[in-house]
Amino acid sequence: MKRRNKLALVAGISAMALSLAACSSDDETPATDTGTDDTAVATEDCNVGIAMPTRSLERWINDGEGLKSRLEADGCTVDLQYADNETDQQISQLQNMIANGSNVLVIAAIDGTTLGPVLETAGDAGATVIAYDRLILESPNVDYYATFDNYSVGTLQGEFIEAELGLADGEGPYNFEPFAGSPDDNNARFFFAGAWDVLSQYVDSGQLVVPSGKAPATVDDWQSIGILGWGSDDAQAEMDNRLASFYAGGEKVDVVLSPNDSLAQGISQSLQLAGYTADDFPILTGQDGDKASVANILNGVQSMTVWKDTRLLGERVEAMVLSILAGEEPEVNDTTTYDNGIKVVPSYLITPEVVTADTVESKLIDSGFLKAEDVGL
Ligand code: BGC
Repeated sequence: MKRRNKLALVAGISAMALSLAACSSDDETPATDTGTDDTAVATEDCNVGIAMPTRSLERWINDGEGLKSRLEADGCTVDLQYADNETDQQISQLQNMIANGSNVLVIAAIDGTTLGPVLETAGDAGATVIAYDRLILESPNVDYYATFDNYSVGTLQGEFIEAELGLADGEGPYNFEPFAGSPDDNNARFFFAGAWDVLSQYVDSGQLVVPSGKAPATVDDWQSIGILGWGSDDAQAEMDNRLASFYAGGEKVDVVLSPNDSLAQGISQSLQLAGYTADDFPILTGQDGDKASVANILNGVQSMTVWKDTRLLGERVEAMVLSILAGEEPEVNDTTTYDNGIKVVPSYLITPEVVTADTVESKLIDSGFLKAEDVGL
């Protein structure tokens, strides 16, 4: 590329990165930028590999495709890959991306601890690594982290349960079944810690009783109740077991802590098959705003979801990529929380929010995140 063109390119990217950062500084504002900005810059220097965990969960399809189209509209070449939740597959996809000259890698890790060697290759090749949504652990070759405030996802779930049951007013006892996310996902620890820091006092006081005994002794033991791979079927099987073993005498479940929607869908199915209906359905939390869960919320067989507007995350990562290519430091808003075991990774955290049946329309439909017909409205 000629020097003059290159300078124009960098100036274009830089201006765009700044305007993106400015327009997305308010986390509450639904993203309206579709990435089709006509200031788009064509560049042979922008070669981005996006590694997503799986197509089996709705959110990752939206995340991957949304980010790809944003970056392509900026003139970047994008290689988007999904890895069927298989770590080895994700590693070989990353090796290919590096071999094909990706200069920025955006990675939603399957197992946060297994990418060290491939990221060393990435570092040697001069690629910048952005951990997407999930932190990559035990590697120095992680440059930035863009995510939602994972601890506050859990806090919102815990506070929802606390308020719905009147726990702060001394109400109870209630039968309570807690679940946690995949033990290999660093986010799952934050989700559980956020919820447990609100709820464990009520387990201690006896206001929340856990008939299955599946309450970790401390927050650090969360993996003992984790559902590996975040599968709905596994969550359903676990809830089936708890119901058969601990509720066979007619006891009722009052409340279930589920860290996300894929687990909540399996748990809801199990409860419905056991005879619970919208009239006596336990409180059941979730996260992501998946279509199936939002439909369940409207039908009274899930209580809430913590909504993470993945368009905002896409917008943020797009801004990071463009800043990096312009030779600037991407904007971050947290430089203390996310220690990956080797270093604290500079992070940008976006604020999540609660959605219930009353706010599905105003938050999810009106903002264009979901279509009314997707959720039976
Ligand atoms: C994400 C959640 C998602 C879960 C399962 C987590 O790392 O933050 O949004 O529900 O993975 O895919």
